[in-house]
Amino acid sequence: RHMEVYNDLSALATEISKLTGISKLIVVKGDADESQETSINLGVEAGRYLQSLLRPDMKVTVTGGSSTASMASHLAQVPFDVTFTPARGGLGEDMIHQANFIVAKMAESTGGCYESLYVPDQVSEQTYQNLIEEPSIRSVLDQIKSADIVVHGIGNAAKMAVRRKTDSAVQKLLLENEAVGEAFGYYFDKKGNIVYKVRTIGLQLEDVINKEHIIAVAGGSSKVDAIAAYLKNAPEQTTLITDEAVAKQLLKAF
Ligand code: G3H
Repeated sequence: RHMEVYNDLSALATEISKLTGISKLIVVKGDADESQETSINLGVEAGRYLQSLLRPDMKVTVTGGSSTASMASHLAQVPFDVTFTPARGGLGEDMIHQANFIVAKMAESTGGCYESLYVPDQVSEQTYQNLIEEPSIRSVLDQIKSADIVVHGIGNAAKMAVRRKTDSAVQKLLLENEAVGEAFGYYFDKKGNIVYKVRTIGLQLEDVINKEHIIAVAGGSSKVDAIAAYLKNAPEQTTLITDEAVAKQLLKAF
């Protein structure tokens, strides 16, 4: 089934990686918004790809969301130590969408270790400064900064703002600035410019840019604009795992 999933889509994947300048694309059949099987396959393929990169003592940092959550159940045991770290504190998500929960599951599936980052979602400047000085938080932040691999989802901006119960002033600002997408707490417009950043503790854009491997997992036609926008400025070491519906639209967008 693995071969069937993207054999005929590999030409499409190659074409888009050339157009967008990212190092690799993996495309699964269908539309994740329409088909449960496509959603599952996104998780399977993203999990398989992550697994292929793992080496002894690697550190992997992971954001929250349903797409990264679906990867967690498709990882297999590895015969060496790997540590999974949540990339951000809670972002006001449901428990099952939180990075803390997902890294625990990834560690369980692979036989690896995990760290937890228990901090409130959005904190005042003062609280933020105090929290990052806490030794237990400091040590997780160091793990995030020194991670070899970052795994993240990409969300539709409006949907993410609602899901995270973002306050109405910020929702208004996102609308005014024409935010279309969101990844690791950064909202961006269709040109890929950052229009808003959630001040949470954890992975920052400058950390992402320095990673050796970046795995983005996102599919479903409702995310086309978000994914196209993200790819406008995506670091070249990004691998995107997406679906056929998105890939075909990306071809038109670039
Ligand atoms: O940052 C992006 C969102 O976390 C994506 O969430 O995978 O549930 O669509 P999702």
